[in-house]
Parts: sequence; structure tokens; C-alpha cells
Amino acid sequence: MNTSVIPTTDPTKAATQGAAIIRAGGLVAFPTETVYGLGANGLDGAAVDRIFEAKGRPNDNPLILHVSRKEDAFPLWSGEPPFARQLMDTFWPGPLTLIYYRSAIVPDEVTAGLDTVAVRMPDSEAARALIAASGVPIAAPSANLSGKPSPTTAEHVLQDMDGRIPLILDGGPCRYGVESTVLTLVGAPTILRPGAVTKEMLAAVLGEVSLAPSVLAPLGAGEKAASPGMKYKHYAPNAQVLVVVGEAEAAARRLSALYDEFTAQKKRVAIAATKEALPFYGDRRTALMGTRRDPATLCSRLFALLRELDASSDVILSEGVGTEGTGLAFMNRLLRSAGFRVEYV
Ligand code: TXA
Ligand code: MG
Repeated sequence: MNTSVIPTTDPTKAATQGAAIIRAGGLVAFPTETVYGLGANGLDGAAVDRIFEAKGRPNDNPLILHVSRKEDAFPLWSGEPPFARQLMDTFWPGPLTLIYYRSAIVPDEVTAGLDTVAVRMPDSEAARALIAASGVPIAAPSANLSGKPSPTTAEHVLQDMDGRIPLILDGGPCRYGVESTVLTLVGAPTILRPGAVTKEMLAAVLGEVSLAPSVLAPLGAGEKAASPGMKYKHYAPNAQVLVVVGEAEAAARRLSALYDEFTAQKKRVAIAATKEALPFYGDRRTALMGTRRDPATLCSRLFALLRELDASSDVILSEGVGTEGTGLAFMNRLLRSAGFRVEYV
């Protein structure tokens, strides 16, 4: 299959071409404000199956349905989720996915047989134009091969999906660079995956919000994942990733020592660094992620950096940061990419 890439500079033209494929049961990769999605008609089980095939994704991992208008979310749920209206009015369109009991129109292929469904309204003109032109909710996971870092540019999508899908809509680099916050409204509101809509922002609306244990720790043996996606190896480059968490200078000293050890073993090493720690690495090979003062900058560079460094490194050493605000989303992705190999100094 030939994969074409077209820009979204004319959103209507891009949406029209994409929608023709979606309506015919095919797959289209499209930009969102978080990461690129791999979309199919979310009401057509056979079309949704093609997503799992193209990604090599285990089909017990459910997908998010994307809508272009708030009111299109309600028919996908059975009844009105508690807090849904306040949350939608505050955070939609935007990087917040809401989970509640599904309605009968949602195919099993989307929910992987669960009785709940995840829905979000993306804050990306190009994404909403595609959904609106398709006239159906679009089921879409991140547009990477299963297990690889999520794509934040059309080039990343092409690396993973060339020859597997007919069309990629190119909207340039994604603003946030990490996937949406996933919040379940079944029972006490609980964050299953942290994102740019932070725990603190959600608590301001909900009063109280819990965090699933799997957000910052590996699942224990025999433990059941609240979100099926949490049990898989994720965001993992081929290189081994190691994380050191601590204040800038202390972290840089430990990472420099590790760098020298691996280099002595003839390994190709790179350090993913923050601006604050950069002066402490001497002439070791570093790549700048962003600043500790704004973990959102770290989030927006993380996946792109993992892909870049993977090509030229056997070992990627990374600084970690605190889990306040968007630091939580950053650490959730980074620790997973490292298989939870982390040191605190
Ligand atoms: O920002 C995003 O959310 C991106 C863009 C494309 O919208 N999408 C994305 O999809 O990250 P995906 O499939 O890579 O991640 C969806 C996550 C998975 O961890 C999945 O297990 C979880 O949401 N999920 C989906 N439906 C669920 C459900 N009904 N119950 C629990 N977890 C669910
Ligand atoms: Mg994903």
C-alpha cells in the first residue's frame, strides 16, 4: 500500500480526503494537540479491527472515541456521567479523555469487551474537521507501532506506518507531545493516565481526584490494570533507558558517572538533559529536553528525543523531575520507557 502525506494547511481539503477513506472503512493518521492518532470509523467494528492490525496492538487494549462536538459524546455513554458537563465545559476541546459506561452503539472492538468507553474532543482544528467531515466518532490510538514512543510529528508516523496505511495528514509538531489525561468517572473519579490536564486542574473542578497506582509504579504480579494499556511495555525505544531523579547538579554528577561507565564498556551513550543541569555534563553527549521550571517543555520533547537518540545510542540516560503539575505526565512516560529503572539521588 502506498502511503501519502498531505498538509493540513487547507483543513477542509485535508478533511475531505481523509473522510472519504474513513467512511469507506479505511485508516487515516491525523494530528491532535497531544500526539498523532491512527483513526477509523468508531462505529464500524471491522474498520476498528484494521487499527489493531496496522499497529500490531493487542486487541484487549481499548481505544478512545474522538468527537468534534461536546453533544456527540453523550450518545456514546449510557446515561450522563457524573461531573461530565463541568469537566467538558472546563477542558474540552482539549487533552482530557473521559471514561463511563458505554451505550449499545459502541462496538466491542472499540472497548475490547469492557462495559465502559473512553471519549475525548481534541483541541486541534484539523482533527475536528476530519471527524466532522466523516460524520462519525473516530476511534484512534496513538499512530505508533505498538510499544514504540507515540508520534509527535507526521515524520514519526511515516517511520512506523509507511506502507501500512493510505493517508497521513501532516499538521506539524504536536503542541503537548504526551497523550491525553485519561479519567474514569465510574466510581470515584480516578486518573488512569496523567497528561496536560493535571491532577491539580482536575481537583479544582472535582474537589477530589484519585490516581491509579499504576501511574508511577509497575503492576504487581497478578494485579489487574484499571486501564488495560498500563500493563503493556510502552514508549520503549530499542536503547536501554535509565533515569536519575534529583536536584540538577546531583543528578548530573550521577548521570555523568554512569555515562563514563557505559562509555568504558564501548556502549554508545546519550544524556537527555534539562537546561539547569547542562553546565555539569562537560563535553559528554547531551540532548536538551527543556527546563525543570516548566515540565510541559520536557513533555513536548520527550517522545521525539527518545526516537532521535534511539538511532544513535545503546543507552539513553535521562534526568527525572518531581511529579507536581505536568511533571507527573512526564515521569509516567519516562519511567515506562525505562522499564522503571530509576535511581533517586
Ligand atoms: O491523546 C490521546 O489520548 C491520543 C490521541 C490520538 O487522542 N490517543 C491515545 O490513545 O493515546 P491510546 O490508545 O494510545 O491510549 C488510550 C489509553 C490506553 O491506555 C487504554 O488502555 C485506555 O486509554 N483506555 C481506553 N479505553 C478505556 C476504557 N474503557 N477503560 C480503561 N482504559 C481505557
Ligand atoms: Mg498509545
